[in-house]
Amino acid sequence: MEKLVIEGGKPLSGNVRIHGAKNAALPILAACTMAEGVHRIGNVPDLLDIHVMLDILRALGCKAELKDDVVSLETSSAQSSHIPEELMRQMRSSIFLMGPLLSRFGHVQVYQPGGCAIGERKIDLHLKGLQALGAKIEESGNTIKCSVDRLRGTDITLDFPSVGATENIMMAAALAEGVTTISNAAREPEIQDLQNFLNAMGAKMIGAGTDTITIEGVERLTPRAYRVIPDRIVTGTLMVAAAATRGSVTLENVCPAHLTSVIHVLKRAGVQIVASDDIIHVSNSSRPRAVERIVTSPHPSFPTDLQAQLMVLLALADGISVVKETVFEGRFKHVDELSRMGADVRVDLNSAFIRGVPRLYGATVEATDLRAGAALVIAGLAAAGTTIVEQIHHIDRGYDQIEIMFSRLGAKIERFSPVRHLKVP
Ligand code: UD1
Repeated sequence: MEKLVIEGGKPLSGNVRIHGAKNAALPILAACTMAEGVHRIGNVPDLLDIHVMLDILRALGCKAELKDDVVSLETSSAQSSHIPEELMRQMRSSIFLMGPLLSRFGHVQVYQPGGCAIGERKIDLHLKGLQALGAKIEESGNTIKCSVDRLRGTDITLDFPSVGATENIMMAAALAEGVTTISNAAREPEIQDLQNFLNAMGAKMIGAGTDTITIEGVERLTPRAYRVIPDRIVTGTLMVAAAATRGSVTLENVCPAHLTSVIHVLKRAGVQIVASDDIIHVSNSSRPRAVERIVTSPHPSFPTDLQAQLMVLLALADGISVVKETVFEGRFKHVDELSRMGADVRVDLNSAFIRGVPRLYGATVEATDLRAGAALVIAGLAAAGTTIVEQIHHIDRGYDQIEIMFSRLGAKIERFSPVRHLKVP
């Protein structure tokens, strides 16, 4: 297994260009299957999850290639609507293909994506939404089969503003007969990006970014070249890393409006942030201040995907901070690992009480999931001594060569692969 070895204690400094958003690119690539022809999607990050999505699209019969940051995708040749179980297990986001494949083929077969390290992660809201649009759903063991003659628009109110369920319903409704209204919809920037992409292909939908999305079904969609938004979670990760190492970093190709709550919290911690058009400059020269109470909840509140990273900064702050996690029930796995580095954190149900310490110390720690892994890298960069982060395949799902990104900012961080033992004849 590969690992990252970090010599901590160096302030990050310099400029970095942020790659495209994984969480926007994945549903957009899924949506491409609804328009037969050749697609060119730009600003797509070179990440493990993106490669799994491309493998799934190939398994369905599409031709797909990622070169530089552009995905070329030919969807006319797709004949299958059965997502192989092995690929489905590798990435929960394969569930995004349900809506698009159902509307293109009238049937789709998928498998329960299962739970994961951060919580139960059910798909009931996806299924209820597709059912409301007229799909017949048969579940047997791990297998889910959906079929429909023609999807029909309707009013759907989500019990929770699930990002994935909102996206799945938007895609299915784009080609349904009649009008669909999604109430209590998720408002994340990735939802707006999906709406923009679908509308560019000829869909008729409004409201993404608010809690009500209205979709007037159209007969067909046509491929259009599109560019994915920048990754706000990678941006936020770098902002926290700059602050935690008391560095000075300029982030380019970003969208500051997507990070309002994050900028607000970091400023409360005493971090200096200057944002303009598509650039954010972050600097910090002193010990951060504790932040009394931070609650993760759906956009525009503080994102759950930055909770672990922020905790590293708070672990170094002067005073006691409280972080309440309301999106995923099991998202404090990084706490044990941070404690091994000297952090003083107590978890009680879904709240973490963080008593800041002046310094973290290098240790061998394990990435338990994607964002927890990013948090441990930040902790290693800020800590005194050497940190070894193991299980880094989780990190590769969401950060394109994280060690190169941080090396360019002056960090001492290297990836080590296991030595292959050659057989001596
Ligand atoms: C997306 C993001 C993920 C982020 C999350 C919340 C992608 C690829 N991933 O995940 O990085 O952490 O939004 O911002 O975009 N839920 C149900 N039933 C459902 C669906 C969800 O109970 O059918 C629950 C989940 O268990 C979780 C909560 O709703 O507790 C939020 O999940 P959701 O917004 O759906 O997250 P994802 O779309 O999976």
